[in-house]
Amino acid sequence: MKPLSRLYAKLALAMLLLFVSLGAALILVVNDTSEMVALEITQRINRDIALHAAEDMPLISNGTVNETALKELAHHVMFINPIVEVYLLGPRGKVLSHALPYESVLLQRVDMAPLQAFLAGEQALPIFGDDPRSPGQRKVFSVSPILENGATVAYLYTVLNGQEVQGLRESLQDSYNLQVGTANIIGSLLVAIAAGLLVFAVLTRRLQQLVAAVRTYREGSFRGRIELPTRQPARDEVDELGHAIVDMSERIENQFEALQQVDNTRRELMANVSHDLRTPLSSMQGYLETIMVKPDLSDEERQNYLQTAYKHSLRLNQLVGELFELAKLESSTVEPDWEQFPLMELVHDLVQDYELQARERGISIAVKCENVDIGVYADIGLIHRVLENLLENALRHVAKQGEITLRVRGDEHKVWIEVADNGDGIASHEIPYIFDRFYRPASEEPQTGTGLGLAIVKRIVELHRSQVQVSSELDKGTAFSFWLPYSRLPA
Ligand SMILES: Nc1ncnc2c1ncn2[C@@H]1O[C@H](COP(=O)(O)OP(=O)(O)O)[C@@H](O)[C@H]1O
Ligand SMILES: [Mg+2]
Repeated sequence: MKPLSRLYAKLALAMLLLFVSLGAALILVVNDTSEMVALEITQRINRDIALHAAEDMPLISNGTVNETALKELAHHVMFINPIVEVYLLGPRGKVLSHALPYESVLLQRVDMAPLQAFLAGEQALPIFGDDPRSPGQRKVFSVSPILENGATVAYLYTVLNGQEVQGLRESLQDSYNLQVGTANIIGSLLVAIAAGLLVFAVLTRRLQQLVAAVRTYREGSFRGRIELPTRQPARDEVDELGHAIVDMSERIENQFEALQQVDNTRRELMANVSHDLRTPLSSMQGYLETIMVKPDLSDEERQNYLQTAYKHSLRLNQLVGELFELAKLESSTVEPDWEQFPLMELVHDLVQDYELQARERGISIAVKCENVDIGVYADIGLIHRVLENLLENALRHVAKQGEITLRVRGDEHKVWIEVADNGDGIASHEIPYIFDRFYRPASEEPQTGTGLGLAIVKRIVELHRSQVQVSSELDKGTAFSFWLPYSRLPA
C-alpha cells in the first residue's frame, strides 16, 4: 500500500470508530432519556389522582378504615386507568389497606421520604417510591394526605403503572417514534461518515501529490526543480509544505549548479596556472641546458643566457608569490586588519618608492589632495598593495614623458582615491575582463606581468566593502578609483 493511502486508511478508521461510539452513546442517551421522560409524564399527568380520589371518598371515619369505600375507589380508579394501584397508608408509611389480592402485597411499610418530597413539590419529577407488590423495585406514584379535623391521619398512595408498567420498557422499544429517532441518528451518522471520507480523500489527495512529486524527485537523484500545482499565497499548511519543497528543490539545484561552476572555474584555473608556470620554467630550463651542452660559448653569451634564465626565475617567483597572495585573500577566513591611519603618509611613501624609476623614463607622478591630514579606516598593508599594483600598471602603460596623477578627495563619510594616467588606455571590450585572474589582452607584452595584479586589487577593495571603478579611453589614458571609510585621526 502507498504510504498515503495508509494515512487515509488510518484517518478513515479513526473517524469510523469515533462516529460509531458517538452513535452508540447517542442512542443509549436517547433511549434512557425517553424512558425517564415517559415516567415523568406519567407521574405529571397523574399527579393529582390521589388528591381527587381522597377528596371524593370518606376513606377514614373516626380512625377506622372504610374498606368498602376504598374497594369502590380502587375499582373506580383502576377502571379509568388500569395501571393505577391504590393503597391506604398510615402516617408513617404502614400499609393499612388495599383492594388487591391479599397475598400479592408483600411490603408492609412504604418509605415515606420520596412521598414527602413529592408532596413538598420541590424535587424534579420523576420521583420513585416503593411498590408494595414488588419490593426493591421503584415506581412513580401519586400521594395525598387524608385529613381528619385538620390533622393527617393517613395517606392515599397510588402506585402508577403497578405491575403493568413492566411493559413500559418493552413498549418503548416498540415505539415507532423512538425507532424513527434511532434510525435518524444512524442515518445522520452514515451521512457524516460518508462526508468525512470524502473530505479526507480531498485533503489527502493534495498530500499524495506532494509525496508523488518528492518520490519522482528522489528517483531523479534530486536533480531538477519540483513542479507543484500549489496555490500562491499559501492558504494552508499543505500549500506551505508544497512551497517549502519547491523552494528546497530550487535551492538544491542552485547549489548543484554553483558547485559545478566552482568546479569548472577550478579546472580552468589549474589549466591557467600550469600554463603560466610552465612558460618561464621551460624557458629557464632551455637556457640552462644550452649553457650545459655548449662548452664553446663565449663568456658574453654565457652571461646573457644566465641573465635570461635568472629573469625567468624572477618572473616565476613573482607568479607563485601573487598566486599565493590571491589564494590567501580569497580564503573566506581573511579579514582586513582595520586601523586608522593618515592616508597621505602612505601615498607619499609609495610615490617616493617609484620616483626614481619614473624619473628615469621622464614620467611625472603628481599627488593632488585638498586636505593633507585626511585619515582612513582600513588595512594599511593591503591598501599599500592596491596602490602598488595600480601604480605599476600605470607606469607600464604610460609613454615617455607621461603623467600619473594620484588624487585624494574626501568628505566626512568616505575618502576617494584615484590613480590616473595619460597612457595607452584599455579597449572598451577588454574592460569587463581586466579584473579576471590571468586576463591580459593579446596586445600585452608576454613577459611583463602575471595578469593577477587587478584581481588582487579587486579582492582587497571588496574586503574593505568597497568597489573599484575604472574609466579608460584608448590613447587617452586610464583612471582606477575606489573609496575607503573616512576616519577622524586622533589628535
Ligand atoms: N593603467 C593601465 N593602462 C592600460 N591598461 C591597463 C592599466 N592597468 C591595467 N591594464 C590592463 O589590464 C590588464 C590586467 O592588469 P593586471 O591584472 O594588473 O595584470 P598585468 O599588470 O600583470 O598585466 C593588463 O594586462 C592591461 O592590459
Ligand atoms: Mg599589474
